[in-house]
Amino acid sequence: MRLLLLLMMACLAYAQQQQDYCFGKDTERPQTRQFSSKTAYQIVKGTNMDKQYQVPGCEPKKMWIYHRHGTRLPTPGTIREAPRLEELRDAIIKNYRVLRTKPDENALCLIDLTAIQMWKWNASITVDIEEHLTSQGYEDMRGTAKLYQRYYPTVLPSKYNDSYYLFRHTDTQRTTESFKGFAEGLFGDASVATAADIPEKDLLLRPYDYCSDFKDKNYKGEGSEYQKFRTSAIWNRTMADITKRLGFTFLAEDDIKLMFDICRYEQAWRVDRTSVWCGVFLPEQVTVLEYAEDLKYYYGSGYGFEENTRFNCRAVQDMVARLSSPVSPHVVAYFAHSSGLQTLLTALGINKDDIKLRADNFDSMGSRRWKTSQLGPFAANFVGVKYHCPASLEKEKVVFFLNQNAVQLDWCNVGLCNWSDVLAQYKTILEADCDEYYCRSAASVGRASMLVTGLIAAIVYLMH
Ligand SMILES: *[C@@H]1O[C@H](CO)[C@@H](O)[C@H](O)[C@H]1NC(C)=O
Ligand SMILES: *[C@@H]1O[C@H](CO)[C@@H](O)[C@H](O)[C@H]1NC(C)=O
Ligand SMILES: *[C@@H]1O[C@H](CO)[C@@H](O)[C@H](O)[C@H]1NC(C)=O
Ligand SMILES: *[C@@H]1O[C@H](CO)[C@@H](O)[C@H](O)[C@H]1NC(C)=O
Repeated sequence: MRLLLLLMMACLAYAQQQQDYCFGKDTERPQTRQFSSKTAYQIVKGTNMDKQYQVPGCEPKKMWIYHRHGTRLPTPGTIREAPRLEELRDAIIKNYRVLRTKPDENALCLIDLTAIQMWKWNASITVDIEEHLTSQGYEDMRGTAKLYQRYYPTVLPSKYNDSYYLFRHTDTQRTTESFKGFAEGLFGDASVATAADIPEKDLLLRPYDYCSDFKDKNYKGEGSEYQKFRTSAIWNRTMADITKRLGFTFLAEDDIKLMFDICRYEQAWRVDRTSVWCGVFLPEQVTVLEYAEDLKYYYGSGYGFEENTRFNCRAVQDMVARLSSPVSPHVVAYFAHSSGLQTLLTALGINKDDIKLRADNFDSMGSRRWKTSQLGPFAANFVGVKYHCPASLEKEKVVFFLNQNAVQLDWCNVGLCNWSDVLAQYKTILEADCDEYYCRSAASVGRASMLVTGLIAAIVYLMH
């Protein structure tokens, strides 16, 4: 009888071990597709272009591309904190091997624990190269250029000239290098192509630099849905579970955030490998962390605030003007940043949910459309391909691609839209004066404040 009991207990223990998640043994690794703006492009890009690029009876004529830069190095803050991970590494190993505070359930498997033990921070990553494009980032860009050229060889010829092609990037290393990677993908040699000058006020690609209303709105501060979610029961439970899993009784949220950040970066730097820090998180925990990120971007750049839909007015007008015009440039490609891309999608009504994302509806928003991992990974790109369809009633058509997936809009036919419908759908924003539409540009703010100063002067004059 006692023997049977012991046997049963052994079986239970074995079954328990079998159930415990092991990142190193997981061949699917669904959580790597949930890293929000730090997701690797190669993991989430679409794979159906074969079926989506050809439009019977139509010929592709023009392309307009808005490309986020490829995988980059961390921000200075994260680079400075990174050595802290070596302390955490040693503490986790000590918890498991010396203090024996390993939890009974959901402990790290031996593979994941050993991987953490062997981890080292790459000390060549220093603040003087903060946010630089990585070699994988360059490859991401070379890859998208080659891919689009394979599908649209007539629109993207491999011979460069500066009337047919228009390239522009922002004033950063990562977008400059991204442009070069893209040019190399198209022309073989990056140096043959040149990018247009960056205007002193880059209202087209960095409008947020000139709009304090946009920057100052409360999307992640006290009282925001993001902050509310990060003090919710589900969040607290997730933090507690991660802490316990690593054998700690207390672990600062900053430490958890750092592990998550480096997990995401390392995964994106080496797509063919995994980061040991990703093994720290169970897939369902990543789903919670991802939701917090989605909330932040939803209110920062997405549909959370109505004014976000009006913010990227200039990019929408540029796209429609470029694709409407029959003359060169035939290919326009911009290399910019995450918030520019996200606000462009928001202006176009892409991936809009019927129900708003909130701190309290995580449970019911699992299949939400606003998933930044899908919308805005590293090297995310939005491409409008303009078609000429001589035999159709509507001769001008367009397909929009987001990360190599044809964008589904309910006024289009499985991704194929009438150009006249584009003009009708976006009429308001197309006819708007972008200087006034949301944020008044510095010039008009200047005018407004002069008016106020004038008024005050008049009042002061009247009072005397
Ligand atoms: C360390 O980082 C530098 C700078 O990004 C990079 O060139 C190098 O390849 C990295 N080393 C390893 C082993 O990943
Ligand atoms: C530029 O390239 C396009 C596409 O290859 C070609 O049609 C056009 O004639 C070229 N223009 C000049 C000025 O070379
Ligand atoms: C979660 O933790 C925070 C601080 O640690 C606390 O302020 C908050 O009340 C907790 N939330 C819940 C729902 O218990
Ligand atoms: C596009 O226009 C044609 C002709 O006017 C019309 O028959 C068709 O329904 C339109 N397509 C969509 C998706 O609305």
